[in-house]
Amino acid sequence: MKIRGRIFAVDDDELIVSMLARGLKKEGYAVHFQTTPQDVVANIIAWQPDIVFLDVDLAEEMTGFDILAAIKKEGLEAEVVMLTADDSAESAIRAMKLGAIEYFTKPFNLDEIKIITGNIIDNIRRKAEIDYHRKNTCPYFEHGLVGESPCIMEIIRKAEKLVQARAETILVTGESGSGKEVLARHLHCRRQKEEGVGQGQSPFFAVNCTALPENLIESELFGHVKGAFTDARTDKKGIFELAGDGTLLLDEIGDMRLDLQAKLLRVLEERTVRRLGGSVDLPVQATVIVTTNKDLQAASEQGGFRKDLFFRLSAFALELPPLREREDDILLLARHFLRYFSSKYLKKGIKGFSVDAERAMLAYAWPGNVRELRNIIERCVVLEEMETITREHLLPNLAGWADAAAVASARIILPEEGLSLEGLEKDLIRQALERTGANQTKAAKLLGISYDTLRYQMKKFALV
Ligand SMILES: Nc1ncnc2c1ncn2[C@@H]1O[C@H](COP(=O)(O)OP(=O)(O)OP(=O)(O)O)[C@@H](O)[C@H]1O
Ligand SMILES: [Mg+2]
Repeated sequence: MKIRGRIFAVDDDELIVSMLARGLKKEGYAVHFQTTPQDVVANIIAWQPDIVFLDVDLAEEMTGFDILAAIKKEGLEAEVVMLTADDSAESAIRAMKLGAIEYFTKPFNLDEIKIITGNIIDNIRRKAEIDYHRKNTCPYFEHGLVGESPCIMEIIRKAEKLVQARAETILVTGESGSGKEVLARHLHCRRQKEEGVGQGQSPFFAVNCTALPENLIESELFGHVKGAFTDARTDKKGIFELAGDGTLLLDEIGDMRLDLQAKLLRVLEERTVRRLGGSVDLPVQATVIVTTNKDLQAASEQGGFRKDLFFRLSAFALELPPLREREDDILLLARHFLRYFSSKYLKKGIKGFSVDAERAMLAYAWPGNVRELRNIIERCVVLEEMETITREHLLPNLAGWADAAAVASARIILPEEGLSLEGLEKDLIRQALERTGANQTKAAKLLGISYDTLRYQMKKFALV
């Protein structure tokens, strides 16, 4: 069973604290407790809990309030719940002022404690995720994974197998903009469903390994304890901890420093993480999805990427083909984005694409993949007032559009009634010869065939 959270409980009444511990362990929490004030602050900090339960009347020399004040001063990022026999309002107010989140008078109802504990943990995870996303811009996920081409269907099937097998580490490769993050989010959603967790209940964290400043990346990933380095004024959870039992997406892994790659490998193999300067190994429960647009195998052969990490990652790998190799998806995605953006920008008048616009999209190479397609459709929807988006609307937006235009117009659509391939070949060869003034070398080049093939074809069609 996965650990829902870490709890430290302090109460001098052994009966109470062991009942609390047993009850919470049954709910899936890792619980540590102690009944004396000895080294309690240090022990709490070392355990790195999510929630601390503190008895107010622990001991004369050290009350629960003293511990609460001390751990807050140490910068411990945990929620504190006070337990007391004293039901006076002053005591409760004092607890809240010192930063406790809840206050229970004894004897308490264990079921109530379980519910509150669950709520606090959910809030901690949610808050961590929101905070993180606020700091890190992350492309949004409004659509789910769109695609029907055979290769996407195959990827979805494979992804399903990885979800069923509860794969802990998954590698997603593909060119920039091909949908690696979309696939990672798809895996996350499927996993939540599989595990019976409500959508959005377990966190999804995306970290771009290249976007983090060099000196921060390590503590961002693994966390640190207070004093681990000059600027470490408080404890800080790393992303592996924050992701809890959700999904952690490590983007652009191909650019990660070699020494960090070694640390990452250890985390993935041992499924534990230790904060910088820390002494406890905390369990890693998140599914870790790493992505790259680099050829990791080549990089590992050239020394730019650790071989052992590459082998580890390639055990469960999904490769997204570039959009140009997913012809069946181009128009599907284009129509999908058109619908999405015309509703978003309230441009209900736009009905669809003209035939030549569709041809141009099919002929274009999409170097920026799905992201480029999405951006172009968004721009057209915002800027155009037409009912139909035509080739002329699209082309100025396509990188290297002149080439695309040429290809688009050269693309021959098979007519309903069929055609004669030989007749077409003969006609094209004649055109090439005319255009080059019968220069056969140039004509062959124009047709993309060898001089010998051209000579052979010319004979065949009696053009000599
Ligand atoms: N199959 C898909 N269905 C719907 N939208 C998609 C799909 N693939 C990609 N997109 C869209 O394209 C954009 C880029 O996708 P994503 O961020 O997943 O690409 P990426 O491969 O992670 O790119 P990069 O390498 O630059 O990080 C997203 O905004 C998403 O909306
Ligand atoms: Mg990405």
